Amino acid sequence: MRYRAVIFDLDGVICHTDKYHYMAWKQVADELGIYFDETINHRLRGVSRMESFEIILERFDGVMSGEEKIQYTTKKNEVYKELLKNMTPKDLPDEVRDTLSALREKGLKLAIGSSSKNAGFILGQLGLGDYFDAVSDGNNITHSKPDPEVFVKAAQFLEENPKDCLVVEDAKAGLEAAKAGGMECAAVGDAVSCGLATWNLASFSELRTVVE
Ligand code: BG6
Ligand code: MG
Repeated sequence: MRYRAVIFDLDGVICHTDKYHYMAWKQVADELGIYFDETINHRLRGVSRMESFEIILERFDGVMSGEEKIQYTTKKNEVYKELLKNMTPKDLPDEVRDTLSALREKGLKLAIGSSSKNAGFILGQLGLGDYFDAVSDGNNITHSKPDPEVFVKAAQFLEENPKDCLVVEDAKAGLEAAKAGGMECAAVGDAVSCGLATWNLASFSELRTVVE
């Protein structure tokens, strides 16, 4: 086997929360009269909640205090969490479920490496609450992607060397984080076009052959 463990980004890799992030940020942006669209939303992938808000504020014509920023990001998260309640195990694609099982059968350890502070809640909604061998997320890091901290911590939690871990990512910031942490990475979705990954996957199930 080429690797001993696989570390998965959550949003955009295991499940698709983009639309919920978009709806929640849109509500906040509209309230502030800030232009916000799906293209700007794509720039928020892999980026922490506050850093995401700073990107949205690039189009804000005013001054906002730190306290107000906390109020607006808290509000966004409340709206987002309400929307996440719509998620069920049916939102876990069959291809993802089957591939995870196949990788586990090969003896690989499986972990999550996500910038989100809602990772535990999302995994619970998907019926994956206890599934992964380790979860490294926005609650155990001080620097979000492209800093490697979230993946380095995941490798530590798994008690594996970074060079034995493969990271799976849908965002440029995530691929950069994996590389900075000394890990090989597989790109899915839009991240394929970055040209940064060790492996560019046409489908999630290709992981079965990549790890061999
Ligand atoms: C990442 C998402 O997984 O989590 C980002 O790709 C998001 O878009 C970040 O901003 C932080 O999420 P949360 O759930 O802590 O607000
Ligand atoms: Mg992602």
